[in-house]
Amino acid sequence: MYLCTSASGCDNISPMPSATKSNDVKTELAQLAKDAKSAQDLMQRMVKLLHQRMLKYNWVGFYMLEQEPPGQPPMLVLGAFEGAMTPHTRIPLHQGICGAAASTGTTVVVDDVSLDPRYLACSLETKSEIVVPVFAHGKVIGELDIDSHFPAAFKDDDRALVEYCAGLVGKSLEKSSK
Ligand code: SME
Repeated sequence: MYLCTSASGCDNISPMPSATKSNDVKTELAQLAKDAKSAQDLMQRMVKLLHQRMLKYNWVGFYMLEQEPPGQPPMLVLGAFEGAMTPHTRIPLHQGICGAAASTGTTVVVDDVSLDPRYLACSLETKSEIVVPVFAHGKVIGELDIDSHFPAAFKDDDRALVEYCAGLVGKSLEKSSK
């Protein structure tokens, strides 16, 4: 835990243990899901909130699975995101950490991206990454990808938080595609 000793205040750092912080953020996310006008609105507000509140989440974005044009292999297409623009706006399922998470339907956590041959670089500053698939009606329809400038930034409580986010978005997309 960080103890603030500055007389001028410590607004820019988080003195809270990470589990407490992610529980607070979970409560805010649940409210966001209730207030959102659409799944797209929820995704936009969610990436903003995670980027602002979780200090090690330096790039936060959705990739959504697209089947178009018919007959072509499906692609992950960049959706709502916060952080610097990425060169990877379309990712085939056989490429990247993103492709691995979507094609296997499982969460992928990479503590050191420099050691993972699947990694597609988005920023030289990125050290670790988590990608969580989003399911609707039992099928992967996209994913939530988060990069950190810190090695091994994604612990169990981060994984639980990001999986919770993906669950909220999945439910919202299920509602809109009934
Ligand atoms: N690093 C990802 C590509 C997306 S950028 O991080 C935003 C990957 O390896 O699939």
